[in-house]
Amino acid sequence: MSETLESIALAMVATGKGILAADESSGTIKKRFDAINVESTEDNRRDYREMMFRTTDAMTNHISGVILFDETIRQKGADGTPLVDVIKAAGALPGIKVDGGAKELAGAPGEMITEGLDGLRDRFAQYYKIGARFAKWRAVINIGENIPSTYCISTNVHALARYAKLAQEAGIVPIVEPEVIMDGSHSIERCEEVTETTLIALFDALREQEVNLEGCILKPNMVISGSTASNRAGVQEVAERTLKVFKRTVPAAIPGIVFLSGGQSDLEATAHLGAMNKMGPLPWKLSFSYGRALQAAPQKAWAGKADNVPAAQAAFGHRAKMNSLASKGEYSTDLEK
Ligand code: 13P
Repeated sequence: MSETLESIALAMVATGKGILAADESSGTIKKRFDAINVESTEDNRRDYREMMFRTTDAMTNHISGVILFDETIRQKGADGTPLVDVIKAAGALPGIKVDGGAKELAGAPGEMITEGLDGLRDRFAQYYKIGARFAKWRAVINIGENIPSTYCISTNVHALARYAKLAQEAGIVPIVEPEVIMDGSHSIERCEEVTETTLIALFDALREQEVNLEGCILKPNMVISGSTASNRAGVQEVAERTLKVFKRTVPAAIPGIVFLSGGQSDLEATAHLGAMNKMGPLPWKLSFSYGRALQAAPQKAWAGKADNVPAAQAAFGHRAKMNSLASKGEYSTDLEK
């Protein structure tokens, strides 16, 4: 079959599969490595990520694609095989983070705007040649006193749509990621309101800029209590409120919604996904694109030591499998044992 945006998008959310977000920027991966006392060198970053990409069962059966950082998409494994080829050999798609990170939004204290549109057409052409078939751009929406502003939401969704259109022109499926940040003491009601407003604005911008929805994947936050809220909502409430907002705002033409974990524990992220998929039938596939929730366990098990690779791969494989079951509505916490 010839490859189209639609066929790539469908492959990204194939039944029982989700995405591994391994696209931490240099600064973020250093933070993760600091936590396990590993120096963030180019070789250590390579070894760590290659270890996951060579976890055969997980990569073949539970992971549809991997989001890479610019360094990784150009890197070769220890035996000289390009990491892109290691990922493809397992049957997964290479993807690329193309945004330039979130910077302070001018004149809007506490708010952020994602940079990276300049030169993006040429970068997409290059990434396509290297093998990327999907991409990611993350917008950051903070909740606080009197924020987010309409200004912050509208500038961020405008940039997301411009990125998405350029990706599609290059034959690359855009993951559009408007992340309403969990940090803060806000209630789940406040998160619901901000998420709904953001998604309405996002799909307006995508329509205005004629983005093909069938060739686009949404990567949102869940509707969840702030991380330091006094009464945090339970699993069922998170699942119900999240689905309520999506049904109101996300067109059925979108083939799939893949969540970010956003600071939830790995077990929470799996439980929430599982609960939502038990509430089907739904108009879109609902799966995962987790960074921390897939990698926290393998990072801890690995701790930078070659001897720990089998244990780290087992930890990664387990989380991938649990999330795969959750994406099919077949997860229960008993399966964690
Ligand atoms: P987390 O799952 O750790 O939030 O990372 C996903 C991601 O890609 C954020 O941009």
